[in-house]
Amino acid sequence: MPALRGRLIALEGIDGSGKSTQAGMLADSLGAVLTAEPGGTALGRELRPLLLGRSKVGDGPVGDGPVGDGPVGDGPVGDGPVGSGTTGSDATATPAGRTVSPDDVGSIAPIAELLLMLADRAQDIAENILPALERGSWVVADRFSGSTLAYQGFGRSIDLHTLETVVAVATGGLEPDLTILVDVPVKVALERLNRTSAVELTMTMDRFESAGADFLGRVRDGYLELARSRPDAWAVIDGTLPVDDTAKALLGLVRSRLG
Ligand code: TYD
Repeated sequence: MPALRGRLIALEGIDGSGKSTQAGMLADSLGAVLTAEPGGTALGRELRPLLLGRSKVGDGPVGDGPVGDGPVGDGPVGDGPVGSGTTGSDATATPAGRTVSPDDVGSIAPIAELLLMLADRAQDIAENILPALERGSWVVADRFSGSTLAYQGFGRSIDLHTLETVVAVATGGLEPDLTILVDVPVKVALERLNRTSAVELTMTMDRFESAGADFLGRVRDGYLELARSRPDAWAVIDGTLPVDDTAKALLGLVRSRLG
């Protein structure tokens, strides 16, 4: 890998943690390049609707009970009826104008999900991250390998050693100079996701957001464990504060850790 003059900062957190807002604000403050996964490249924008899908009204327990209580996505990812999808009226248009049905994307096997996430990461690195780091820019990544360990590892129960091996293949060994977990309790995250009206919510929530409190709980615990086990590479920040306070704390943390 060529010498990298810039720094890579990854922001991590469960859905509803407010991490994307913070990533944008941090990139602005630092004059850094902002990337987001999945979806930060042309390839990623093709993969994103496949990976995230969308819940829809009447799509099992998500539309029926309180968000987060239903088992959707909380069992094996391949629970849905394989091949039952149709490209009917529920299909959503991709940026390329083609259509992906929520039914089609409801049954992604965990390893398939993992490899698609990693394909997105490899492309984001090649297209956005490495060129920026090589020219000396700082990069703020809205999700990076921490998401894969937390969601596919702790969330989907893929063995962590296997994950570390394939993640290293996808990244070519590139690791963030600092990974910051914007931490919020699951209850707070679900309340934030719930602020949208119930109908709008069931139409717009993605597979991960509708996966339920147990799933998000495993992901959050996983994040905290990762941060505890790598204090040299990770930091945790309280994501329950008002947005501007969290942003200030985040910037202070970056300055103290990376100069
Ligand atoms: P997105 O709508 O971008 O969520 P957010 O704004 O919270 O970042 O959706 C990204 C989803 O993809 C999120 O639920 C986490 C999931 N994900 C993984 O499961 N593994 C990964 O490696 C990455 C990058 C994301």
